[in-house]
Amino acid sequence: MPKLPPAEPFRIKVVEPLKITTPEGRLDTLRKAHYNMFAIPAEEVFVDLMTDSGTSAMSQYQWAGLMTGDESYAGARNWFHLQDTIQDITGFPFILPTHQGRPAENILTMITLQPGQAALSNMFFDTTLAHVENKRAIPLNLIVKEGLQPPVDLPFKGNVDIERLDDYMQEHGREKVGLILVTVTCNNNGGQPVSMANLRAVREVADRYGVPFFLDAARFAENAYFIQLREPGYASKSLKEIAREMFSYADGCTMSAKKDGLVNIGGFLALRDEERYRQAQQHLILMEGFLTYGGMAGRDLEALSIGLHEVLEEPYMANRVRQVHFLGGRLLEAGVPLLQPLGGHCVMLDMKRFLPNIPQECFPGEALTAALYLDSGTRGIGLGQLAFGREDKASGKVYYSPLEVVRLAVPRRVYTDNHMNYVAESVIRIYEQGETLHGMRLTWAPEVLRHFTAQLEPVE
Ligand code: F0G
Repeated sequence: MPKLPPAEPFRIKVVEPLKITTPEGRLDTLRKAHYNMFAIPAEEVFVDLMTDSGTSAMSQYQWAGLMTGDESYAGARNWFHLQDTIQDITGFPFILPTHQGRPAENILTMITLQPGQAALSNMFFDTTLAHVENKRAIPLNLIVKEGLQPPVDLPFKGNVDIERLDDYMQEHGREKVGLILVTVTCNNNGGQPVSMANLRAVREVADRYGVPFFLDAARFAENAYFIQLREPGYASKSLKEIAREMFSYADGCTMSAKKDGLVNIGGFLALRDEERYRQAQQHLILMEGFLTYGGMAGRDLEALSIGLHEVLEEPYMANRVRQVHFLGGRLLEAGVPLLQPLGGHCVMLDMKRFLPNIPQECFPGEALTAALYLDSGTRGIGLGQLAFGREDKASGKVYYSPLEVVRLAVPRRVYTDNHMNYVAESVIRIYEQGETLHGMRLTWAPEVLRHFTAQLEPVE
């Protein structure tokens, strides 16, 4: 018998109507936003693929969980539920709740890094990179070289280059390196997974030199799914077992629960070492809140506790990654250049091949996000020169971002395959007339994390 097509393992109980906008209206919106996607009111967006962060649809169990929220200042029951869940999944004994990922990154970098020390990663996410720099430490990305070659199709393009990691440690020693932080999956190159073998090898290096090794676990469950699919020996293990093994190699993790926590807000820092935990506690109380709520309401702790169980259910995860690959597959069929293989949470359009006529300093990613918004009300984001490049004002030298991509991140359990088709058609027709697009110029930009608030205009 022929195979039945895949279908979503849920049905829809509540709907959020979307506003239908016109091309004229979108042009007006775009101009008022100075061509920055972050400045566009979300109601003016039809399909919002800006991020998979904090945009998940919660399940009926999570919504019901909100009603059991215990809003006591200290010792709320929902905290104990969440603590048990995180300990069970990660194996880390010490958990500190935070309102999202970055406070956990802030605390971790406070307790591990001294000024002038290096922090090593496969690839730092932008907030993490900024937290490292903010401690006057030096972030270094040591991803395998194929991780930065968009057309190369390999199963674990998020891996750390172990040889470079080892060489760096040998040359500089423990005193010069405060932290190894591996991002699973690796967001900046399209949600590429890190293999279990690679995590094990990082552990060995970390042990040899005595450096703390943490995971940036925002998408740990998607990483576990790719290990199950692609790494020999894991096909019959559950996602939970795989996740538990991933965490077993690390000394702790930071977590933005807005991704694989299936919640709209939340995060945590988890640690194995009690001494470090004691230090981290002080910062948590000062900056986020008391130890049993951090930056979250009691009800949000409950929703997260439930979300962490749901994200490890295999029908959920298989459908989640299938939908991302459905969008990517439509684009690949039409010859659109993407970062390959397709990752866990997003599709990345490779601007160097998509808009080869626009040089990086003219922000091809932002030219495309503007064109896509104008064409179909779809919102993606450029992750390239504007986010990761730099211009040295004194010398005029331009430092280029290694990747120049537009990310279409798919929120979890939110859109249908029809939305994905709609977006694919829009991307395809822009690709077919790509040479008519113009580059962009900055009219204003701040010093730090400039892509969030920069203002741009098209270059004629
Ligand atoms: N680490 C990774 C890998 C991330 O992708 C993010 C956020 C963070 C840390 C920070 O977490 O936002 O909760 O403070 N990524 C979002 C994105 C913003 O769109 O990829 P946060």
